[in-house]
Amino acid sequence: MHPETAAIHAGTHIDPSTGAVITPIVLSTTFARNEQNELISEFVYSRAGNPNRKALEERLAAMEQADVAITFSSGLAAAMAILHSLSPGDHIIISPDMYFGVRVQLELLYKRWGLQVSEVDTTDMTAIAAAIRPHTRLIWTETPSNPLVKITDLRAVAALAHRIGAVCVCDNTWSPLIQKPLDLGVDLVMYSTTKYIGGHSDLLGGAVISRQHNEMVERIRTFQHIGGAVPSPFECWLMLRSIATLPQRMEAHSRNAMRLASFLAQHPAIEKVHYAGLPTHPQHGLAAGQMAAFGGMLSVEPKGGKAAALKILSKLKLFARATSLGGVESLIEHRATVEAGHAHFSDALLRISVGLEHPDDLIADFQLALEELEAA
Ligand SMILES: Cc1ncc(COP(=O)(O)O)c(C=O)c1O
Repeated sequence: MHPETAAIHAGTHIDPSTGAVITPIVLSTTFARNEQNELISEFVYSRAGNPNRKALEERLAAMEQADVAITFSSGLAAAMAILHSLSPGDHIIISPDMYFGVRVQLELLYKRWGLQVSEVDTTDMTAIAAAIRPHTRLIWTETPSNPLVKITDLRAVAALAHRIGAVCVCDNTWSPLIQKPLDLGVDLVMYSTTKYIGGHSDLLGGAVISRQHNEMVERIRTFQHIGGAVPSPFECWLMLRSIATLPQRMEAHSRNAMRLASFLAQHPAIEKVHYAGLPTHPQHGLAAGQMAAFGGMLSVEPKGGKAAALKILSKLKLFARATSLGGVESLIEHRATVEAGHAHFSDALLRISVGLEHPDDLIADFQLALEELEAA
């Protein structure tokens, strides 16, 4: 099946008891046995399994042409499941330019638990190779990176991980469907499904996807079941509905972001635009070789530093001043405020999640805000 078809059909079937075309929401936490004490269905108790979660996991797996998808109550719970599948004493490699919440999780929870962590720029293969230790078990990638939109060469990092007997993980939250890490050799794809997969800024969720069942995947499944950070049936249902339009949304987010990035890149009030779709991005060629489109996320640094950035924020009308990403509405944030104390980038940086409004309206909003900035 093509992704557009799988996004609509995988995981669903006509409900045999009602004929409902849309999967009904099953809120029951427990599932009965018959007079012979045999379970009536495959379900026992909702933390272990629920029809809506099963449908969602089947659809997510089909979307990645994978065998297994394991869903969680948030992206960070999914990240935690991956980290928990390791053992105390294991060493992992991460990048400083990645979602800061995973770095904080490692710092506050997993270093105490005995994981050893090296932070290296994963766009630099020599730096990764130099960081390898005898017990390196995992290399964590996030590409395009958050918030500097750097590109990691997934094929090369996955190959390196495999040479040393480690696994390669990719947080693909920014790029569902437009980047297929499993096709490039990555072992585990992780998502905050709160973002593009949910797509409407109205649910929290996370997922881990693997092409094969294996021991590590089993440990992640156990963590889901025993750890208990599972998504509710309603959130699974919302996500299943949202995935149906994910292919078209990702194309439209990418088109709009490209238009806005091109406009901002030529504007005299803007110092830098970080967007991998621009031919001027230093790793545009690498991005084009591993992405079908460049996604809806970009960062800009205006001339005039933090003061100018905050002024622009205050003038925009269509962009909500809010963190997060991947919804139909455009969002903008002063990223250093959000990452308070963890930021490793310019405090002029504004991160933009380009929504599905008409791109001319988004550009006009910025044009006006930048004119007002110049006039001030
Ligand atoms: C790239 C990335 N990964 C993981 C997460 C964590 O996801 P959640 O907020 O669903 O726990 C986020 C959240 O912003 C993110 O942007």
